[in-house]
Amino acid sequence: MADLNKEDAELLMGQDEHNNHSHDDSWRAPTPCKRCHQRWWFIGLLLVSILVNIILLVNLLRSPVASPDDPTTKFAGLQRTIEEPFVRMTKYSSENETLQDQLWHDINVDHGVVALSDEWAMQHGLRTAQRFPWDQSKGIYILHGYHNLHCLKIIHISISEYRNGQPQSRSWHHISHCMDALRRQVLCDADDTPRATERRAEVVSGVLQHRKCRSWEALEQFAKQHTACYKRPEKPDGVPIIERYKHCPPGSGYVVDDDYVPTDEFLVGLPEESLDVD
Ligand SMILES: *[C@@H]1O[C@H](CO)[C@@H](O)[C@H](O)[C@H]1NC(C)=O
Repeated sequence: MADLNKEDAELLMGQDEHNNHSHDDSWRAPTPCKRCHQRWWFIGLLLVSILVNIILLVNLLRSPVASPDDPTTKFAGLQRTIEEPFVRMTKYSSENETLQDQLWHDINVDHGVVALSDEWAMQHGLRTAQRFPWDQSKGIYILHGYHNLHCLKIIHISISEYRNGQPQSRSWHHISHCMDALRRQVLCDADDTPRATERRAEVVSGVLQHRKCRSWEALEQFAKQHTACYKRPEKPDGVPIIERYKHCPPGSGYVVDDDYVPTDEFLVGLPEESLDVD
């Protein structure tokens, strides 16, 4: 039986080998070269496909290219490249209120007032704006991020003045406009990031979580490239608005004319001023 089995096995193997051979033969025999060509074609295509995929993958990993969920911003071309922890106490909420007030005071939103050419505006789907005095082909805009920061800043100023028993330097009208603007921004962003909660005495969430941010420095760079030479005086009362536009940095190429009289009413939409007219 054992022998037979062995014989059977050998036979079967032999048959198998034979079958394999005959199979191979039948595979190759009729038109060996035609088959060969087909196979080489297939291998060639496969290699090309693999190569293309590798190139695509390397490119994807190398460059901070915009993925569908990380589009480049429309105007300054910014991307979310900076990773930062979700919750971090900063000096802006320092227990030292002198320091806190100083830092908020030093936030410069003047840079956010920019002069953009009508051509650039049109290319970017923007409407035209009031004229920039030193180049009539440009309009004056305030970048939205700076507008929001300005709002936060004056709310802080108002609360700080209240805490210190000082008179309010900004109108309630302006403060409520700003709070409303920030409220609408929050609704507009509809940020869906779940912040992890913890059982803690302190009211915090999102600890150890990170988020991807755009670079404020890059936005500031964009703003400075398009400077509108704007600077709000510390005490603006009685100072003509046009004075604010006379702070052109060296090399701006703008020629400031002290006798310039604006034809537009020169006020609408500027930070600090827009709604102060009660
Ligand atoms: C608070 O901050 C101010 C301004 O930075 C500083 O001069 C002062 O020494 C600080 N006070 C304390 C108690 O740390």
